[in-house]
Amino acid sequence: MTHQSWIHLTDEAQATRLPEALKRRDRVAAIDRGWVEQIRLFLTLFSQPGELVYDPFAGFGTTLVACALEGRRGLGVEIDPERVDLARTWLADVESRTQQEVLLADARNAPLDPDSVDLCLTNLPYFGSRLVGGGPQHAQAYVIEHYADYLAFLDSVFAQLARVLRPGGRLVALLENVVLANGRFVPQAWDAARLIGGRLELEEERILCYDHKQPQEGTQTSRAHEYALIACKRRRPMDLEAARCLLLQLLAGGLSFTVIGSMGLVLLGDAPRHPADVDLLLPASPQQLDLFASLVRGLGFQVMSWGEPVTAPLDHEKLQGRFYLRARRLEKDGAELMVDATYECPWLPFDEASEHQLKCRGIPVASKHHITRLMKVRDGSL
Ligand SMILES: C[S@@+](CC[C@H](N)C(=O)[O-])C[C@H]1O[C@@H](n2cnc3c(N)ncnc32)[C@H](O)[C@@H]1O
Repeated sequence: MTHQSWIHLTDEAQATRLPEALKRRDRVAAIDRGWVEQIRLFLTLFSQPGELVYDPFAGFGTTLVACALEGRRGLGVEIDPERVDLARTWLADVESRTQQEVLLADARNAPLDPDSVDLCLTNLPYFGSRLVGGGPQHAQAYVIEHYADYLAFLDSVFAQLARVLRPGGRLVALLENVVLANGRFVPQAWDAARLIGGRLELEEERILCYDHKQPQEGTQTSRAHEYALIACKRRRPMDLEAARCLLLQLLAGGLSFTVIGSMGLVLLGDAPRHPADVDLLLPASPQQLDLFASLVRGLGFQVMSWGEPVTAPLDHEKLQGRFYLRARRLEKDGAELMVDATYECPWLPFDEASEHQLKCRGIPVASKHHITRLMKVRDGSL
């Protein structure tokens, strides 16, 4: 790292604070707002003037005010209609030569085009808050009761961000670990980083330090420091020989599978691009899924289902409706191999794929017709 990895922010500049009158209109006096200073710094580091910056948890519009000041186009999404109104009112008073827009929507399925965002910059809502969040309560992150549900919520937002970021675009997510009112430490920033790493490539962390002393609502934590988790939408080409070797090891271990995706096309000698991972289709049989999990674990992989680490024997009831298992192996020289093993594929049942599969140097590969059809379904063109 060539830059300083921590930043000390002492106070909010008067000129760019949320105006008092707007603060008073908020049901919790806007205590969960961020500072324009935090955001300006990351805007200048990770975006260019005129680029589109997205905040899926726009709150009072702090990110968009920073965008206005730095000449970026800002788009914010917020679930609480009163806050959408506050953000629009604040923005109307800030001079901007670029367009700033706030939408009333749920961050998990906000109406944005794939690959359209240059930078996503956001303060994530934190778990354990006793804040009264507005808007539809089934979608409001502040009212989530259980940590597993909170992490699942974050993961679906990260999935959406990975879709809407352009290749090479970055996510900067601000979050702190918290100590809850009863003294329980919750490593939410670290867990969020793990989930982000499943969707994007984590690049670095920076730590923001503040002079706060008072605990935050519902916690014993004063937000004296928080993490900026920085990740990029980038897929590194994988080591094809290592991938071939893995497939042969899975076959030797007795696993039934068919290779699909761009690795399948590479094996068929017809690859339009270099694959970033190995896509497999597995039979939806508990024995085969357990065999997959234990074989790859034995080969140094970590196995995950929707961001949660899992081990064999798997909880098959829980896997229903989750479509795939992901296995990742990171070596100490930084080389990585990732396998997505789909066991529920409505567009290509395992038996149909097997009936038409080919053998490429002993490895079972789905037909080119099936592979390209599946790829089109996945990228939405079929
Ligand atoms: C930490 S605050 C963001 C404050 C913002 N950075 C600012 O300074 O103006 C998190 C925001 O996320 C919003 N939120 C919670 N669940 C949401 C969801 N499903 N979709 C969009 N926004 C949501 C909350 O209402 C809250 O305003």
